Amino acid sequence: MTSYKELGLVNTKELFKKAVSGGYALPAYNFNNMEQMQAIIMACVETKSPVILQVSSGARKYANQNILKNMARGAVEYAHELGYDIPIVLHLDHGDSFELCKDCIETGFSSVMIDGSHLSYDENVALTKKVCDFAHSQKDYVTVEGELGVLAGVEDDVSSEHSHYTQPAEVIDFVGKTKVDSLAISIGTSHGRAKFKPEQCTRDANGILIPPPLRFDILEEVEKKIPGFPIVLHGSSSVPIEYVHMIEKYGGKLTDSVGIPEEQLRKAAKSAVCKINIDSDGRLAMTALIRKILIEKPDEFDPRKILGPARDELKKLYSHKNKNVLGSAGQA
Ligand code: G3H
Ligand code: 13P
Ligand code: ZN
Repeated sequence: MTSYKELGLVNTKELFKKAVSGGYALPAYNFNNMEQMQAIIMACVETKSPVILQVSSGARKYANQNILKNMARGAVEYAHELGYDIPIVLHLDHGDSFELCKDCIETGFSSVMIDGSHLSYDENVALTKKVCDFAHSQKDYVTVEGELGVLAGVEDDVSSEHSHYTQPAEVIDFVGKTKVDSLAISIGTSHGRAKFKPEQCTRDANGILIPPPLRFDILEEVEKKIPGFPIVLHGSSSVPIEYVHMIEKYGGKLTDSVGIPEEQLRKAAKSAVCKINIDSDGRLAMTALIRKILIEKPDEFDPRKILGPARDELKKLYSHKNKNVLGSAGQA
């Protein structure tokens, strides 16, 4: 049993309180490997931003939970070495069972998500409450994120054909019964790099897909029901068209890519949305740079010369998000 405090990590409690009152959102960046973790920490130290390092169950399978735990400890020490101690949360993304959440909590995670959004309402309440009871009774309080509503999109372990918007009428009951610390809601975002079908979008003069706007009316209704309660947005990559074009220029094929426009995320971050989840944009940035190097330098075979430039690009992307989209820069 390792407590997150031994690793130098913090939970989300105070960070969310400050983010809601300060009108910004914390970045929740997924990581699976060393280069992603280094880029996240470099960017967040440089911009003085608190950060949530997210681990999916797929990441856990890929990288091994003990390695990830020690990478989180390393992230704390790395930030210190870079000259600024930013608050770092280690969070389980889309936990799908009590056992997985318990295991993460006992391995040193400071925050977990229990995603019961695919269950019936009553089953979601029961599972989420069970995880909260366990997490909150630890010597060092572990924070829990629950979810109401279903996002569309396909990831390794998260998949749904259609989205179901969160019903504002349910949120008071859900938060009251489960005692979650934050709530992920569905207002039109979705996972992955193709967030909408082309027929749901319009096109600009260059033929670029323009997505339908997020349902800010639902967000406002939710905020009226539970004022100041921390809200989370999943599926919030913007899918920068420059990366899509770069990937396609160097041999990739990413038909019908479309994300959430940055202005809409900025608007959401100014509300009670205090955590914004971003994974796909990092994947796109890394893939774009890796493809570019491999094509432009066919004799290169040192992984450091391939992954290094990808890491530099990732850092640039995360700094931009903290400064210009989430508003978390300067808040650590
Ligand atoms: O929302 C899911 C995250 O993007 C993690 O994806 O399950 O493929 O690691 P993954
Ligand atoms: P994206 O696929 O939009 O990056 O969403 C990531 C996410 O929600 C992780 O939980
Ligand atoms: Zn998600």
